[in-house]
Amino acid sequence: MEPEAPNPATELDSVLLRNSFLQLVPVSDRAAETFYAILFERDPSVRPLFKNDMRVQGEKFMMMLATMLDALHDMDKFESECDALGRRHRTYGAVKEHYELVGTCLLLAFDEVLGEEFDAETRAAWQRLYGIVAERMSGDRGPEVS
Ligand code: HEM
Repeated sequence: MEPEAPNPATELDSVLLRNSFLQLVPVSDRAAETFYAILFERDPSVRPLFKNDMRVQGEKFMMMLATMLDALHDMDKFESECDALGRRHRTYGAVKEHYELVGTCLLLAFDEVLGEEFDAETRAAWQRLYGIVAERMSGDRGPEVS
């Protein structure tokens, strides 16, 4: 049994995740471009879900990561935000299977953009965090009432 933890990620994970987020900030456009290129190549059928101008996707991409990092410090707020984000994603057309795909593409993009800095521990930390967020977002949280 794990000792009780207020956050889903360990202290070490938090440090690794924040560091790699900071490494991505100056190269966010390239990271986003790489991520969407991998995603659309792997599954061209998700392309039409993204209706926004691809030029703003760098910003969107960092929002996606920042949203995940929020999970590290306020679990209660995180859970309700995650449920709402999950409901919005259903309206965007995201289905359960897409979550696994997006997680895989995210790690591939990080690897390509960060190179050696994206080491095994950092990769594992993102994988754990993504798993927690994606599971919550894709879970059935009832009808769309507030
Ligand atoms: C951990 C998983 C994910 C996180 C944290 C996340 C986060 C976000 C955020 C913060 C936005 C901005 C709009 C909003 O807040 O509603 C967004 C938009 C969007 N996301 Fe996600 N997302 C995730 C997974 C996915 C998956 C699996 C798909 C399916 C392919 C997807 C498709 C979209 C689409 C289509 C938009 C609308 C933006 C546009 O039209 O360009 N996301 N996401």
